[in-house]
Amino acid sequence: PAGSTAVSVDNNTQLGLTIDYKFNKNKTAKLIAATPFSHDIAVKGYAIDGLAIGNTKHLPPTLVAQYHFDVGNSNFDPFIGVGLNYTKFFDESASGALKTTLQALKVTTASDDVDLKLKASWGLALQAGFNYKLSDNWGAHFAVSKMDIDTTGEVRVNNNVIQSVDVQIDPWVYMVGLGYKF
Ligand code: NI
Repeated sequence: PAGSTAVSVDNNTQLGLTIDYKFNKNKTAKLIAATPFSHDIAVKGYAIDGLAIGNTKHLPPTLVAQYHFDVGNSNFDPFIGVGLNYTKFFDESASGALKTTLQALKVTTASDDVDLKLKASWGLALQAGFNYKLSDNWGAHFAVSKMDIDTTGEVRVNNNVIQSVDVQIDPWVYMVGLGYKF
């Protein structure tokens, strides 16, 4: 229906891996990787609020330039960072509820092929956190990042786009980790 194209995306938790390369005492490059995230997408607001549209998986590798502050404590290493995020979506699938609804609205018939596609996205990432030294090689790691992941979702019928939707994922990403220094 008209005006029913806002969507929401649920939260997910995955295993992350970060690799830091230290240029000097203050400057570090950090690559953030993770096992694939999985999200359900639903209509937000309007007459069909909550209607499941489908689900997707994605990988959001992020490269961050960090500045580390010298706070006069060799164990406590706080930082802020700014970087670039690339998110690749895959294994998108349209929900049974979406297919049923499109048939009820006489947009499709049972023999039509309904798909969901999400385009890859580039966006900014901001980060703050700290490392805490536990021994010469081991440390704890805490970071909060805000990532701008904006994409276009397309509902396709027999490979023709019948509806494009702006999908703003823009997650707060919380990482708690154990680090090893080489
Ligand atoms: Ni955004």
